[in-house]
Amino acid sequence: IGYQQQFWLDSSLPIDEEQGGLNDQIVINFSHVVAEDTPKGQTAIKFAELLEGKTDGRIRVVIYPNGMLYNDNNELDALEHGDVEMIAPTFSKMTKTLPTWQVLDLPYLFHTEDDVERVLTGPFGEQLLNQLSRFNIKGLAFWNNGFKQMLTDGDPLLKVEDFQGLKIRAMPSKVLQQQFTLLHANPVATSFDEVYTGLENKELDAQENTISNIYSKGFYNLQKSLTITNHGVLGYAVMMNEDFYNSLPSDLQEDVLEAIDEATAWNFEHSKQMNDDNLKGLEQLPDVQIETLTKAEQQRWQKLFKPIYNYYRKQVSETFLQEIEKEIN
Ligand code: LMR
Repeated sequence: IGYQQQFWLDSSLPIDEEQGGLNDQIVINFSHVVAEDTPKGQTAIKFAELLEGKTDGRIRVVIYPNGMLYNDNNELDALEHGDVEMIAPTFSKMTKTLPTWQVLDLPYLFHTEDDVERVLTGPFGEQLLNQLSRFNIKGLAFWNNGFKQMLTDGDPLLKVEDFQGLKIRAMPSKVLQQQFTLLHANPVATSFDEVYTGLENKELDAQENTISNIYSKGFYNLQKSLTITNHGVLGYAVMMNEDFYNSLPSDLQEDVLEAIDEATAWNFEHSKQMNDDNLKGLEQLPDVQIETLTKAEQQRWQKLFKPIYNYYRKQVSETFLQEIEKEIN
């Protein structure tokens, strides 16, 4: 029943937006795990504004940042079951469900932000997103955060030998776990919301992450040694519950797709700048030590990581690797 009627029946009843509140407004609950002041946080806000504008408020997007609604361990399940309408996990977190997506985690595969944009917004990205439909998920887009760097609380991580025996936080992706095993570190699967306490309790010695995540979550308060390695990319699969999407009238579906396209363009235009600005912020902190991996050392890392490419080629998908390599080189 509409709000007017409901009000008439019982003026003490709150507006139940999920049941169709004021003017039968449709609510999209969008849950994500990072801070608002990040590429994902800001693009989610942009998307909400665009969609609310396009639909004249017929759709309202309510964003739950910082894992306040769901975390890495339960957000996918919540999406599949329609407990939340939208999430945007890092693609590495989807690789258990979709092993071919591990290709995006291959270290030193992407060289520039342009490579990332071309692959993720082109036919290859679309092919990946289409795989989601068998899980009752509408894959809307990929968004970028940026290149990952290494952070630790000990000596700077420069040479491959520096990783020996470190407990290093890894997202749940076989490729990422192999990356750290080849460095002779011990990968520890940790949900993003548990990284800070993991560092505090010394359960973790190091992690890989983007500058914007390191800055916005204050990881630099606990780990003061940052190495610019750009060894991998962190990006997001922006996904909607498919039953929910199908339940929207077709004009609103079009608005969703348009808002996503515009928000995605905005994301790729601004994500690098956000990371660069946060790096400047870190550079101003006297106790944070920032080093850059030398070209020679990077070549040693790349040589060490070769078996991961063989693993992907032989055990996951030769075709996917070939296709993505064609797009990049
Ligand atoms: C992480 O777990 O470190 C990232 O996936 C968090 C995020 O969503 O950027």
